[in-house]
Amino acid sequence: MVEKKKIRKAVFPVAGLGTRFLPATKAVPKEMLTVVDKPVIQYVVDEAAEAGIEHFVFVTGRGKGVIEDYFDIQFELEQMLRERNKNAELTLLTNILPKAGTASFTRQQVPLGLGHAVWCARDIVGDEPFAVLLPDMIMTGDNKSCLKGMVELYDQSGGNVLAVEECAPELAHRYGIVAPGEEIGNGFRIIDMVEKPAKGTQPSNYFINGRYILQPEIFTLLETQERGAGNEIQLTDSMLKLLKQQDFTAYPFRGETYDTGAKDGFILANLAFALQREDIRPLIEGPLKDIIAKMG
Ligand code: UTP
Repeated sequence: MVEKKKIRKAVFPVAGLGTRFLPATKAVPKEMLTVVDKPVIQYVVDEAAEAGIEHFVFVTGRGKGVIEDYFDIQFELEQMLRERNKNAELTLLTNILPKAGTASFTRQQVPLGLGHAVWCARDIVGDEPFAVLLPDMIMTGDNKSCLKGMVELYDQSGGNVLAVEECAPELAHRYGIVAPGEEIGNGFRIIDMVEKPAKGTQPSNYFINGRYILQPEIFTLLETQERGAGNEIQLTDSMLKLLKQQDFTAYPFRGETYDTGAKDGFILANLAFALQREDIRPLIEGPLKDIIAKMG
């Protein structure tokens, strides 16, 4: 069993090109697209904070500077709000600011893949286990956040922890799929992983939903990781190598994940999050039903 150190740091890889959401993502990073009234990245940072993360590491790229600005003070705007006594709005802005010194930004100059983006965070993370949150995957539906549940399981299991969810069998070929072994706490040991298995060959219907707790040895493996699927340096390929040396445990998340990097996932996320809001649901529920009825 690998030594259990506290999960203090989280990596947010935000350097991808977002080609599935063009033209919207030509000039606006997909992580800054809005779900109800917050950019997608805010949901994921809030999730990490709820799980006890103390340091937020953003791996950014070309055209992503606005993400750094979003987590910085906006002096003129705040001054204006103060002068106009817009205190609620001012508090809203203050609340989203990470504490001084708790956010780091590094660059992935060329988007060579998720594995490469995570590797770019190696010096900031250092020699300790850390979380990775894919910022375009956001979740609803459980009474605690996905990463919080993972950290609780990690406190029992140690090692590496991946969040998984069940998908319809006919959709398994789209995802990274894990093969389950013995039960561990409220999760199970992972004995194998396959990235996008050929239709009908998947070892289970549990897909990796975009949340990871990884041991720092992953960086050594990523350093020499050759390109894989899509000609990109894949995180899954290095995780498969790490699986031969260390334990991996799956945390079955009981909520719903939305892939906001895809148009359908983004629209569904907006509907799901809006319908959960007491201030918005009454305004949209009726009109939504009308639209569906009219469209047939
Ligand atoms: P995706 O495959 O969703 O990202 O990667 P993408 O390349 O931006 O999207 P499409 O497929 O072209 O629409 C998952 C996560 O990994 C990040 C992305 O920003 C996203 O959050 N990523 C991906 C990087 O940071 N760097 C990369 O080289 C690739």
